[in-house]
Amino acid sequence: MIPENSKSPVNTIGLLQNLIYVILLVLVILIYFIYLIYQGGDQLFPLPKKSTESQEIVKEKDIYTKDTDRFWLAPDPESIKGSALESQILYGRDLIVHTAQYLGPKGSVAQISNGMNCQNCHLDAGTKIFGNNYGSVASIYPKFRPRSGSVENIYKRVNDCFERSLNGMPLDTMSKEMQAIKMYLLFLGSNVEKGTVVKGSGLKDMPFLDRAADPVRGNKIYIEKCASCHLKDGSGIKAADGIVYTYPPLWGQHSYNDAAGLYRLSNFAKYVKYNMPLGATYEAPQLTDEEAWDLAAFFNSQSRPHKDTPEDWPDVSKKPIDHPFGPYSDSFDQTQHKFGPFKPIAEARKAQK
Ligand code: HEC
Ligand code: HEC
Repeated sequence: MIPENSKSPVNTIGLLQNLIYVILLVLVILIYFIYLIYQGGDQLFPLPKKSTESQEIVKEKDIYTKDTDRFWLAPDPESIKGSALESQILYGRDLIVHTAQYLGPKGSVAQISNGMNCQNCHLDAGTKIFGNNYGSVASIYPKFRPRSGSVENIYKRVNDCFERSLNGMPLDTMSKEMQAIKMYLLFLGSNVEKGTVVKGSGLKDMPFLDRAADPVRGNKIYIEKCASCHLKDGSGIKAADGIVYTYPPLWGQHSYNDAAGLYRLSNFAKYVKYNMPLGATYEAPQLTDEEAWDLAAFFNSQSRPHKDTPEDWPDVSKKPIDHPFGPYSDSFDQTQHKFGPFKPIAEARKAQK
């Protein structure tokens, strides 16, 4: 006999079970989405392709592939005018150019970095040819980096520069600021085919010297060619507002720390040779190779903040030959790894392989 009151215990249990299944299902879907976002799921945020207008832009746009022999040109911000992502991308660009205003010691959003701007080292908002630009970021990340011994996504790479180059703290991955920076980097790389390292991105390679780089010569060149803007003591010059630098600091407590990429002699030499004094380009450099290396040696002899990085280089044999801190997998000492001559180290590495 069926009871009149349908709320029998059996029914309630059945209902409860169904409810639990639904809740579980929703939870699993939610966790999957959070996982996707955390993994830097670049595909979650595609540039809008729905309107016919932006379809035309995509069609017209030059896509740089591995076979392209032209230097990368950043996509035109005009191309996103009126798109749903315009304001986010422009905010990301602003954070690169005016980092200190938002995130410096007197930042309006948070105080998590040293007062430098990303643009100080990633020139023209990360678009200048061989000005350490971001042309290949969207196309090659996530990628394996031997420094951490792990596959890094864009968030991790951006926070590396916050913690080292801006001697600060990491941005929360889901913060408005990190999302905007990431979106700007994806926008910059939106004309580069996935997997392509585009011509002119990052820093331009330079040959090693036959001798060790010389900080004493570097000091002399610094006084002649650099101190007019960066000051004799390397501390830089702040703008009248006291918030941003007109000429950023090159060493001392407000500069990048010794775990930053620029603290490697070769990175510094490559950056300076094709970008400094201000106005130099890869087509019209103003320094000789020797001057660039000697300047680098001078800079790396000055004091700057120290960062402990016990997790770096889990496989010591993958350390770049100019990594300034041991231990090493070869018999060359730390001074030679810091200042060179690098050719013997490079040759020994080759022979090992
Ligand atoms: C003091 C100079 C300096 C500053 C300031 C700086 N960076 Fe960097 N950044 C570098 C150098 C040098 C490299 C390349 C390092 C290497 O390859 O070892 C780099 C690499 C990167 C890369 C990876 C590029 C690639 O092609 O692999 C990203 C992304 C990046 N920086 C983002 C940022 C962001 C965002 C900021 C601001 C929060 C910033 N950087 C501030 C020096 C700097
Ligand atoms: C005319 C002024 C001027 C001169 C001269 C000059 N710089 Fe700079 N330098 C700048 C400016 C401005 C920036 C930041 C660029 C930006 O944010 O767009 C900069 C950035 C840098 C950076 C990266 C940011 C940092 O603070 O570490 C380094 C390294 C650097 N300069 C080294 C040099 C060296 C070495 C010389 C001499 C060969 C030199 N500069 C000469 C104006 C100058």
